[in-house]
Amino acid sequence: MTAVATELYDYAVIRKFSVMAIVYGVVGFLVGVIIALELTFPGLNADIPYISFGRLRPLHTSAVIFAFGGSVLFATSYYVVQRTCRARLFSDFLSNFTFWGWNLVVVAVVITYPLGLTQGKEYAEPIWPIDLLITVVWVAYFINFVGTLARRKEPHIYVANWFYLAFIITVALLHIVNNLAIPINMTDSYSIYAGVQDAMIQWWYGHNAVGFFLTAAFLGLMYYFIPKQAERPVYSYRLSIVHFWALVFLYIWAGPHHLHYTALPDWASTLGATFSIMLLLPSWGGMINGIMTLSGAWHKLRTDPILRFLIVSLSFYGMSTFEGPMMSIKSVNALSHYTDWTVGHVHSGALGWVAMVSFGALYHMIPKLWHTRIHSVALINLHFWLATIGVVLYIVAMWISGIMQGLMWRAYDQFGNLTYSFAETVAAMHPYYLIRSLGGIVFLIGALVMVYNISLTIKNSARVPA
Ligand code: HEM
Ligand code: HEM
Repeated sequence: MTAVATELYDYAVIRKFSVMAIVYGVVGFLVGVIIALELTFPGLNADIPYISFGRLRPLHTSAVIFAFGGSVLFATSYYVVQRTCRARLFSDFLSNFTFWGWNLVVVAVVITYPLGLTQGKEYAEPIWPIDLLITVVWVAYFINFVGTLARRKEPHIYVANWFYLAFIITVALLHIVNNLAIPINMTDSYSIYAGVQDAMIQWWYGHNAVGFFLTAAFLGLMYYFIPKQAERPVYSYRLSIVHFWALVFLYIWAGPHHLHYTALPDWASTLGATFSIMLLLPSWGGMINGIMTLSGAWHKLRTDPILRFLIVSLSFYGMSTFEGPMMSIKSVNALSHYTDWTVGHVHSGALGWVAMVSFGALYHMIPKLWHTRIHSVALINLHFWLATIGVVLYIVAMWISGIMQGLMWRAYDQFGNLTYSFAETVAAMHPYYLIRSLGGIVFLIGALVMVYNISLTIKNSARVPA
């Protein structure tokens, strides 16, 4: 079987993306810890502009979302599409082109952000030449993925591939439309949109970067790796199809919930909130479908830490997709917006869902890619607990600090004066920032345990058969 798999499938590119995913994960988490510490102890930036919070923050978000998350998605989508279609990737050249092209994008980002070269749009910071490179790589990815689907030997296209394809198409659309700009030199450009239109396009992009990059694609991953690891069919295939169509239809409209109480017309922000609340249904439908796939195999959770990573990630997904619709209600958003509550919400999705489901998939896939066994299941277990404790410390600290921050900002005394100065609210955050940093450090240590475990797995693969 292994010989057939090696000959039939292109595993080389998946191996490279998997290794880079782990490398970028560690770097991204490390930068996260550094900025968390800078918020706790502002003197840490030593007045060096290159490592100031403002420059490292976008480096963190791009490293974790696009370098780590992107590499996980390239690796798993190439793995899933080949195995579910029983076909080799469409083109070896395009596979390698996407690998080197994507890594070139990451290197360009790592050089330009600390120098202060960005276009100042959140999650879309790269300057225009890098944007062009991203576009070319993405088109190559699309052709490679669709080409593989076209040469499939299975009549049916498994639902995981639908999610991946929706992600590839939508990200292309979002990236191109949001980055339309007129260059004035090699590093600067002006967006073709102005004022509130610019904000609207940016948050249509920003929200769907969450919806399609951090959600739809990872749901594709979930629909392949949970049934595989649990050795059970998906709980309801019909539900997975309803889940897919409802999710992609609803997500695309929800962006305006990022712009409540701004210059955006009120009807547009209400529309965004309405679609956000409806999004609860497909989100929870998908979560339930994933978790119920364990029907009859619940006992495996006791002994299989990989399955635990996958299932706990779904619980965090459920939690953040309950919290998100609540936060999109205008009166709740009036309290949560601009506060650490949003940051807590982000990381319950990002650490709890995206990173945990990625760890589960990588632990499942890597031994198969190297035709070997994992070095230590006990270390996966240790990683699982470190990651879970890290996430919980992080998000609980941010919930408390965020709600406190919101309440302090709006407190008035009997004369109508603000009760607290802004500096007082910042001082009140300090203990929670410390707890968040601690959570980040614990999470990072977990990732280092993974590096050790996976390195030994790969190193010993020649003499440890599957
Ligand atoms: C060790 C792990 C991590 C730590 C310590 C960490 C820390 C931080 C910190 C301190 C911020 C800035 C918050 C602020 O501006 O007030 C931040 C922002 C952010 N991080 Fe992380 N992070 C980690 C992992 C991740 C991961 C894995 C992802 C995504 C997959 C992620 C996505 C984001 C995003 C999207 C933001 C921007 C949030 C916003 O604008 O509201 N982080 N992170
Ligand atoms: C039904 C699903 C979801 C809904 C309706 C939703 C809704 C929201 C709302 C209302 C905000 C606050 C906007 C603001 O006040 O500025 C927000 C922020 C955010 N959410 Fe979600 N959320 C959902 C799921 C998720 C998931 C699963 C993730 C991560 C994987 C995520 C990542 C983010 C990020 C990164 C931000 C911060 C954006 C920024 O200001 O930089 N969301 N979300």
